[in-house]
Amino acid sequence: MTDRPRVFATRVLPGSALAELARSCDLDVWAERSIPPPAALAERVAAAEGLLCLLTDRIDAALLGGAPRLRAVSSVSVGIDHIDLPAATARGIPVGHTPGVLTETTADLAFALLLAAARRVPEADRFVREGRWRPPQVWEPDLLLGRDVHGATLGLLGLGAIGRAVARRAGGFGMRVRAWSRSRRPLGDLEGLLRWAEFDELLATSDFMSVHVALAPGTRGLLDARALAAMKPGAVLVNTARGGIVDEEALAAALAEGRIAAAGLDVFAGEPLDPGSPLLALPNVVLTPHIGSASQATRARMAALAVENLVAALAGRRMPACANPDVYGQSR
Ligand code: DGY
Repeated sequence: MTDRPRVFATRVLPGSALAELARSCDLDVWAERSIPPPAALAERVAAAEGLLCLLTDRIDAALLGGAPRLRAVSSVSVGIDHIDLPAATARGIPVGHTPGVLTETTADLAFALLLAAARRVPEADRFVREGRWRPPQVWEPDLLLGRDVHGATLGLLGLGAIGRAVARRAGGFGMRVRAWSRSRRPLGDLEGLLRWAEFDELLATSDFMSVHVALAPGTRGLLDARALAAMKPGAVLVNTARGGIVDEEALAAALAEGRIAAAGLDVFAGEPLDPGSPLLALPNVVLTPHIGSASQATRARMAALAVENLVAALAGRRMPACANPDVYGQSR
């Protein structure tokens, strides 16, 4: 018998985070490079006091209900739409996540997708690699013409930490910036750089639109067929938040018709993207495999914070980054 809490980690993590966790816990690690199937997840979580999970693990009420010893859940992600938060709160289980540490890295990718989609960088790369840049073609006046980013209007759908970091980058590129959010928090250092817009105004006036709301019941399908049709003709859409916010089929249709000129997408309604997705056949879409936070330093910081959350909770302390602070008897 040991008094060290048992923790199930659903993936081997790069760096030293798991070694740190193993200093104070008995660690059971899912050693495969695949998501634990639901039955295996349920079995391993049922025996655990702590769970270290990824955004690909579905932590629902049934799973939590089958784990009577579970005292803490910590996800290596800022988004917690894969976790039934009310169910965890009802059981008094704190849920840790990783806000802050991935803000700038994700904003970098949002801006990379914006630039790549605007200036057709992947198309141009394919053009050269596939040997299509050949004599007599040298410099063509109409080759791969894209859209100017400078001087254009960027609409931010949501203005949390990542949206704000994208706004700062847009300011550096000489863009006009507008934002929509249900909770209009004070603009602070963004005062003078951006102004608030109503939802329909944002859709109608943005040359570029970047999605930064969390996926929740109120934002699922926020960019539905109606909203996409209301976007400025020729606009470019960037999504590094969650795929479920956008109606993917309606987006593919708008891109195929050229009503939306291009898109840069890092997240999808179903991941990995279905090989039959119409998006794959569209040259005007830049696709990346959910790598918003994927820099070495940021992934290490995410893993470290997730471990800190778990260790704190299992030692009876408050998690440094808790997504359901109501469990501590006070609101966020
Ligand atoms: C998160 O942490 O929610 C991100 O989507 C990971 O890149």
